[in-house]
Amino acid sequence: MTNINADKLSSARFAQATDAFVEVFTASVDFDKRMAAQDIQGSIAHATMLCACGILTEAERDAIIGGLTHIGEEIASGTFVWSVKQEDVHMNIEARLTDMIGIAGKKLHTGRSRNDQVATDIRLYLRDEIVHITAELARLQAAILDLAEQHADTIMPGFTHLQVAQPITFGHHLMAWFEMLSRDRERLQDCRKRLNVMPLGAAALAGTSYPIDRDMTAGLLGFSRPSANSLDSVSDRDFAIEFAAAGSLIMMHLSRFSEELVLWASAQFDFIDIPDAFCTGSSIMPQKKNPDVPELVRGKSGRVTGHLVSLLMLMKSQPLAYNKDNQEDKEPLFDTADTLINCLRAFADMVPHLVAKKTSMYQSAKRGFATATDLADYLVRKGMAFRDAHEVVGLAVRLGLETNRDLSELSLAELQGFSTLIDADVFGFLTLEGSVASRQHIGGTAPETVKKAIAAAKAQWQLAE
Ligand code: ARG
Repeated sequence: MTNINADKLSSARFAQATDAFVEVFTASVDFDKRMAAQDIQGSIAHATMLCACGILTEAERDAIIGGLTHIGEEIASGTFVWSVKQEDVHMNIEARLTDMIGIAGKKLHTGRSRNDQVATDIRLYLRDEIVHITAELARLQAAILDLAEQHADTIMPGFTHLQVAQPITFGHHLMAWFEMLSRDRERLQDCRKRLNVMPLGAAALAGTSYPIDRDMTAGLLGFSRPSANSLDSVSDRDFAIEFAAAGSLIMMHLSRFSEELVLWASAQFDFIDIPDAFCTGSSIMPQKKNPDVPELVRGKSGRVTGHLVSLLMLMKSQPLAYNKDNQEDKEPLFDTADTLINCLRAFADMVPHLVAKKTSMYQSAKRGFATATDLADYLVRKGMAFRDAHEVVGLAVRLGLETNRDLSELSLAELQGFSTLIDADVFGFLTLEGSVASRQHIGGTAPETVKKAIAAAKAQWQLAE
């Protein structure tokens, strides 16, 4: 009987050619060719192992490795011809290999299936992407540390409910961002640990009858170990979901930074200047300078969370083991990685050029009665119950509001009118400088404490590098 699908690697069983639309509909090569380098890397390791186990001859192994290396060059230089007829990256490369080296090319697939092959490729691919994402994350953290160092004693209002709450230092605020990103980095490293386990050898789902050496292949590919269950290896994409979850948290953090930058760059806050290189103008309003980079990053956080939800939905109803549904994991994953790298890069480039408007930050803290809690604490230290102190300070704030003055600008006589417990030493607590300086405990906003936090972060940083 003739094979009507002779141009395909696996179609002899079929009596009918694939419907033309179904061929395009089921193909993934347009997007999974992005994993070509990892596919070749996996195949070279597989062929090396097959030979070491006596399943391929040395001549066959060398022909395969030579062919795959050449194909890698063709792909890198753009001369490789991809075909939808070959469905995906794996079959395209294998078909070309067989074209080039003949029968040995067909032997490469011994003891494996596309199911364990694709699961391996994605893991290798994500492992590489995590390196790039972590590098951009680290660059952004370094920029934040530098800026925090410059502003360890720059005073600004701290907010709750977006209302002025208590004075803080800008360096302290920046170090909050730093902490958020440190946890993001840890999450990525954690995710890498779990995905760095090798599925190859699981074959289609049940393993293989060939005497393979999975420890050897895992070692060649830098995996920590071979996976423990063949069904699980080819079916679960929880590692991809975990990556998208870690990515969603990074984007959520970047989105919050973005929101603050957008607010702070407005005339109403006027806390920072975002350099022109990271803004654009308006086509109609000549005065406008729009904070496009943070706005776009804030917007892009939505698509990454969307990808996380897509992957969860993709996985949730699949029976063991492999199902074609899993082909749908790639586009959300690739876009998650691209979005993360681009957003982190834009931020890492922009943060070193942010200009803090110190006077404006300072005046804003003053206008908001940011030291009201300090006055209450002062009265408590002099023996008043906190609830009563809260009342007294409320009255003092009202006088300030009526006469358009900060608490530190009220006279001693005026303050003593509210409580006789108040002495001249009160002004040491009512100033913004006095307020921040008094918060010296671990995690506090005092400039000295912030400087220590920066130094500790830098020391840890060096250890990590
Ligand atoms: N392109 C497929 C994917 O992305 C490769 C595995 C296909 N396996 C199969 N038995 N059809 O998942």
